[in-house]
Amino acid sequence: MMLLLLNLKLIFVATTIQSIMSGITTFTMIKPDAFEAGNSGLILQKIIDNGFKIKALKLTKMHQEDAEAFYAVHKDRPFFNSLVEFMISGPVIAAILEKENAVDDYRKLIGATNPADAAEGTIRKLYASSIQNNAVHGSDCDENAGIEGNFFFSHFDRH
Ligand code: CMP
Repeated sequence: MMLLLLNLKLIFVATTIQSIMSGITTFTMIKPDAFEAGNSGLILQKIIDNGFKIKALKLTKMHQEDAEAFYAVHKDRPFFNSLVEFMISGPVIAAILEKENAVDDYRKLIGATNPADAAEGTIRKLYASSIQNNAVHGSDCDENAGIEGNFFFSHFDRH
């Protein structure tokens, strides 16, 4: 039994490493503003229509320490406290997405961080209201896609 569990764990680790190295995986979160506005379904449909496969999906609500940990890289930025408050203000939908060139293609699909700078047709242009309340998160590199996916999902949650 122990051997079987070890083997399964090794297979999972190898698969995860392979996904990260080959750049076919990214992580996204539909943020509380977009969820509250009822735009989650439209955003998920747009993601699917653009060729991304949903590998894991979760409706959840972060606690303060979760949001602080998720955005720890921004802890010295002036907007950090406000960002954390926003991210725990309501439910989010977290997802792992799969597609060739996932990170870059997804960042193109969501558009610039500030919706005022986002290209026409992008998710943020369509559904974001400010640089903070910008509807969705998308990983900025393959390494962070792995870290962020693991932050929300165990291997039991993925298919
Ligand atoms: P996201 O892509 O999730 O990564 C970090 C988040 O910080 C970003 O989207 C915005 O929600 C928020 N953010 C980035 N820059 C600013 C800013 N200048 N003012 C307020 N919030 C910001």
